Amino acid sequence: MPRIIEEAVSLFLSVDQQVKDAHRGRRYNPPVMNSQLDIRHDQSLRALNTFGIDAKASAYLQVCGVEHLRAVRDDPALSSLRRLVLGGGSNLLLTRDFDGLVLHMSNKGIVVSGDDERSVYVTAQAGESWHDFVQWTLAQGYPGLENLSLIPGSVGASPIQNIGAYGTELEEYFHSLKAFDFQTGDVIELSRADCCFAYRDSIFKHELSERAVILEVTFALPKRWQPNLRYAELATELEARAISQPTAKDISEAVIAIRSRKLPDPTKIGNAGSFFKNPAVSRERYEQLLIEHPQLVSYPQTDGSVKLAAGWLIDQCGWKGKSLGPAGVHDKQALVLVNLGEATGSQLMKLASRIQEDVKERFDVVLEPEPIVI
Ligand code: EPU
Repeated sequence: MPRIIEEAVSLFLSVDQQVKDAHRGRRYNPPVMNSQLDIRHDQSLRALNTFGIDAKASAYLQVCGVEHLRAVRDDPALSSLRRLVLGGGSNLLLTRDFDGLVLHMSNKGIVVSGDDERSVYVTAQAGESWHDFVQWTLAQGYPGLENLSLIPGSVGASPIQNIGAYGTELEEYFHSLKAFDFQTGDVIELSRADCCFAYRDSIFKHELSERAVILEVTFALPKRWQPNLRYAELATELEARAISQPTAKDISEAVIAIRSRKLPDPTKIGNAGSFFKNPAVSRERYEQLLIEHPQLVSYPQTDGSVKLAAGWLIDQCGWKGKSLGPAGVHDKQALVLVNLGEATGSQLMKLASRIQEDVKERFDVVLEPEPIVI
């Protein structure tokens, strides 16, 4: 065995012994593989994923800045481990313990980083909570992100799946981001075009998935703002509140009210928001489906395809409010799977597969999961 691996193994074994000693009540010295880094072993991830799944990471590091990532890359024992970058853990389903290093992005800070005729530029560190960041921008009087209020998760995770809700997608206000490139050790800057944004998709799910760790994101918030009320339910909510000329804050409050009615609060019921993406089908396929299912809920896309409301498809298959043991389907929005108690990731996956099979059989449509499954 090469010496470097032997050293890592013996260090790991001594760390493992310390953890066992700690469980027996002896004095516990936190294991440190690299003198600069507080690596924790056998770390529970239960509080770090919004499904509340009880899984562990063999190694865990709270990342407070790029120096921590550099130190991981420079340490042969750490850099050879599998990595999982964790933000708010709101788009993740853990089906087993993670044998590798969890990098929990915890760097904080929000600044106004620029200003020109059209926009105010605001830069937030990856570890900021997304919703707190949106509320901060609104409190400063910078509109733009209000339709994205109350989305769980962190700023650093937001570009990965190009978060979207109530007629707005992140890419509309995204300006650029900085990321640490594990391959080269450099901090790289990516523009909107570089990120290849699409529906719940970006380069960070593809070419850069194993490579880049997002450090900070800059948004260009418009100086001349127009409310975005394209989403019918949002317009109806504002009408019900007798608001005809809404401010960004009014829209944020309306979005928070709608989300709170339909989506379970992850601090109370474990969930990861929509479990499936809304599937896109060709116009021909859509027209065939419409003959058989005239109530089909759909959204025409600019490329000619038609997106179907996955929640409606699942609801039609009778899954809303149903469960398989502790893995359930939310009773107010069939697109959301919930942990009703002590569900394991595998139980949730089993439920997801059953739903996929039923939707395939009834509509011949394939549903694709939205969260990252480990
Ligand atoms: N519907 C049903 N039954 C259900 C759920 C939905 O019939 O149980 C039908 C309703 O007719 C409803 C339509 O489906 O009008 C669409 O439902 P909804 O407005 O709740 O939106 P969605 O397409 O289910 C998407 C996003 C949500 C986002 C909302 C609002 C995806 C995968 N999901 O859901 O995002 O909040 O639109 O913009 O695109 C998330 O990604 O985690 C998420 C919550």
